[in-house]
This record gives sequence, structure tokens and C-alpha cells, in this order.
Amino acid sequence: MTLSVVQPRHANDGPGAALKARYGFDTPAISEVWSDTLGGLLQHRSVRAYLPDALAPGTLEAIIAAAQSAATSSNQQFWSVVAVEDPDRKARLAELAGGQAHIRQAPLFLIWLADLNRANAIAERAGQGHEALDYIESLVVSVVDAALAAQNAVVALESLGLGSVYIGAIRNRPEAVAEELGLPPLVLPVFGLCVGRVDPARPAEVKPRLPQAAVLHREIYSTEQHAPVAAYDETLRDFQRSQALPPTGWTQAVVSRVSKVAALNGRERLREALQGFGFRLR
Ligand SMILES: Cc1cc2nc3c(=O)[nH]c(=O)nc-3n(C[C@H](O)[C@H](O)[C@H](O)COP(=O)(O)O)c2cc1C
Repeated sequence: MTLSVVQPRHANDGPGAALKARYGFDTPAISEVWSDTLGGLLQHRSVRAYLPDALAPGTLEAIIAAAQSAATSSNQQFWSVVAVEDPDRKARLAELAGGQAHIRQAPLFLIWLADLNRANAIAERAGQGHEALDYIESLVVSVVDAALAAQNAVVALESLGLGSVYIGAIRNRPEAVAEELGLPPLVLPVFGLCVGRVDPARPAEVKPRLPQAAVLHREIYSTEQHAPVAAYDETLRDFQRSQALPPTGWTQAVVSRVSKVAALNGRERLREALQGFGFRLR
């Protein structure tokens, strides 16, 4: 196994090309507002094909430093992460996440955790109660904290020229994932993140997003703004054709995802799993 040399991805193409890739032709006017960070963010793409190379020493620690630099509600830091590099454990987690091959392939698989166990233990050691942890609010805080931390890690690893993909499918079988990782009570695996060097033979491309008019409301929310979706369907179909994917568009993906409980792939049991993990959900 070779060691990956971290190569920063340069984001100096300027706004025009980056916005076109992100939106198709319906690009927002951003005038001269631009930075290398914006360039990097607009180049994000999920990577599902990796080289087997180990990451350069210090990479994990660097991206966790970025994760810990994210804002966290009241500085409570209600999150943790498990770094998995063991091939057998990655293979077992891949099976628990619907057999996704990229989990096996990536040299590093991070599982981001909403973690109320640490706060619970600290309160117990202090001889105090911890009734606030029983409330859904505390769970929401911990999930938000975990997500913000993870996304900072993604931005950091992409700036180093690495690729990643989130794995929500680890919530298909949360109890089995918790057992595999030895999670204590009050800890929820929120999502996984494959991290590695992008296989240059199977690079990923920037996937276009909805026009800004669909998501950006000014002063008050307007459901009228849901309308421009037809044009986006066409933009996404063009992207799918360019990737040799079935040109199904976006509307159909949303409908398939929301019309049947079966599309949740086991995640409809999340309340039961959370209760089993000790979350009171009050
Ligand atoms: C919370 C979350 C969970 C995800 N779970 C999976 C997953 O299990 N498998 C997968 O291949 N992609 C997964 N993705 C990646 C999305 O499919 C991807 O971000 C989306 O299609 C947009 O593509 P892009 O990231 O390339 O822009 C997930 C993304 C997020 C944010």
C-alpha cells in the first residue's frame, strides 16, 4: 500500500465556471464577490471511488482539528467521531449500510456521533442531575453539532485534495452499528463519512443544485418559490446523461423518497432505536 501525497485542490477557476457547474445556466449574480474558500466549496462533489492508498500521516488529526473548530452549541461539544481503518470492520459496516462498496474501498471511514454520554457522565460525576438530556432539544443540539463538525472536516479534506461521501445508511441498522463500534448509551451514529484519495479513473463531477430562487427566501417564506423545479429537472437530467446515469431528473427522486415508508430502508425504526440507546425523547 502506498502513502497518499496530499495535493491541495486549487480553486482559482473563478466564479463563472464554478457557478455554471453548480447551477447549470441559471446562475446567481455574485459580481466580484469571490475567494479561494468559495471556489473550494463550489467544487464539492461526493466521491464513491477511491484509491486504496493510506492517508498521509497527520491527515486524520488535521481534519478532526477542522471539525473541532466548527461552532458548537454553547460550547457543549455534544459530538464525537469513531475513525475506522480496519478492513474487516469497514467491511462489516459496509454490509450494515446496504453493501456500499466505497466504505470498504476508502482507507478511512469516520462515523460521526451525536454524543450525550459524555455530558451525562460529567453531570453524574458532579453529583448533579441531567434531566435536560431527556429532551429532544438536547438530541437536536447533538445532531446539529455532529453535522457542523463533519462538514468542517469535509471542507478541510477537500482543501487537501481528498474526497469523501457521507453515509446516512448507517442509520439503517443503528443498533448493529452501535454494537460494532462499542457505543455506550446516549450516543447515536448520525452518519458515516468515507475519506480517501479520489480514483482518477472514476472521478466525480459537481452535481447541479436547485436555482437559488427555490431555496433563498427574502424576509418571508413564499411557497410560490417551489415552482422553478421543472427547469432544474432538465439541468439534472443533462448532468445524469453526462454521467451515464438514468436521466430521471429530480422530481422523481423526491417523490420516490417520500411516497413510501419502504424508502427509509429501516430508518423508520429510528424512534425505537433511540429509545433503546437511552434517549428519553421528551
Ligand atoms: C447526511 C447525508 C447522508 C448521505 N448518505 C449517503 C449514502 O448513504 N450513500 C451515498 O452514496 N451517498 C450519500 N450521501 C451523498 C448524497 O447523495 C450527495 O451529497 C447528494 O447526492 C449530492 O451530491 P454531491 O454531494 O456530489 O453534491 C449522503 C449525503 C448526506 C448529506
